[in-house]
Amino acid sequence: MVATHHNPTDAEILGRDEANDLDGILALTNTDVQSAITTVQNNADSIFTWNYEKGERPRLNKLYEKAKGAMWDGEKDLDWSTEVDIDLMVEQMKVASQLQNTSLYKLAEVPGSPLRNWGEKEWTDLSRESLVWQMSQFLHGEQGALVATAKIVETVPWIDAKYYASTQVMDEARHVEVFAKYLDTKLDDHYPINVHLQHLLDDVIEDSRWDMTYLGMQIMIEGLALAAFGFLHMMTEEPLLKKLLRYVMSDEARHVAFGVLSLQEYYENLSLAEIRERQEFAFEAAVRMRDRFLRQEVWHRMGIDDAKPLLRAQLEAPPEEKEFQRLLFSKIVPNCKKLGLLDAGEGWLRTKFEEINVIEFEHMESTDEEYADFALES
Ligand SMILES: [Fe+2]
Ligand SMILES: [Fe+2]
Repeated sequence: MVATHHNPTDAEILGRDEANDLDGILALTNTDVQSAITTVQNNADSIFTWNYEKGERPRLNKLYEKAKGAMWDGEKDLDWSTEVDIDLMVEQMKVASQLQNTSLYKLAEVPGSPLRNWGEKEWTDLSRESLVWQMSQFLHGEQGALVATAKIVETVPWIDAKYYASTQVMDEARHVEVFAKYLDTKLDDHYPINVHLQHLLDDVIEDSRWDMTYLGMQIMIEGLALAAFGFLHMMTEEPLLKKLLRYVMSDEARHVAFGVLSLQEYYENLSLAEIRERQEFAFEAAVRMRDRFLRQEVWHRMGIDDAKPLLRAQLEAPPEEKEFQRLLFSKIVPNCKKLGLLDAGEGWLRTKFEEINVIEFEHMESTDEEYADFALES
């Protein structure tokens, strides 16, 4: 019997009318920020395998062998005595973002914009807040990766994948450590986790199917992180942050490759209906990640009570004014394509990626092919 799949609406996938439903986006706020811990139910089984045949999956085995030799030390390899001049850093990034045509200045021209009377001081404050916010979300995302890959160690049935995932747990611990230290000792400030990122991490941890953790974390969240780290690495001249990001990226490229190599094999044996569930999961993750870059919390901290005109303008800006947001998908789209997710089921995910204007990245190199280029020694 051929399984038929109910064609869900955006409302069913996203819990709101459509991807650009601003009220739906703003209906989610982070009300739990005072609490020191958050509990998420992990519904997956922990799997033992008695097949210890190392190298049964040669490409995963190769990744594992590489990972063992690529461990750096966040305390010893980064020079924490570096004096960080935040004002200079913010100034350089302001200039770089204008050159990259990702400028937020255009938001002052939006009808009814609360930014219309802003002077240089406010714009500088916004750049500083955006930097702290961005680094804070990186930190929280890294902890999400730490927890998710610990889950993968438990849930994946293949010994080569358990070996590799265990090295990733250690990588993510280092990433959490260095981002936390940079925020604490150099930026002296931080933001709580963005609500859309929190929801995405919850989905990744809660799901009972082990491959959904891979798809959400290794392909979507880490794919976005790899692109975002690369962008910040390009934008900043601050030597400590530049080196920190370079080190983290060398690991992240391997992590995304791990996702592609594992899921490629697994997806080959799934039905179309099962693939569709993965497509929907990927789309939901993409929308949540885009929503987080609306940076609700920054506008709030800048004293703007009604940020709706700004958020709407950001959502509806033409593609050429959203280079940064679009670039974030430069790793996700080719990797989804490599996994067969773009075109399965009459191209459902392709259409969705067209709607959010990121389909053009489909021709870029997938990360399982390019990860070695990110290695520190190369
Ligand atoms: Fe990481
Ligand atoms: Fe990672």
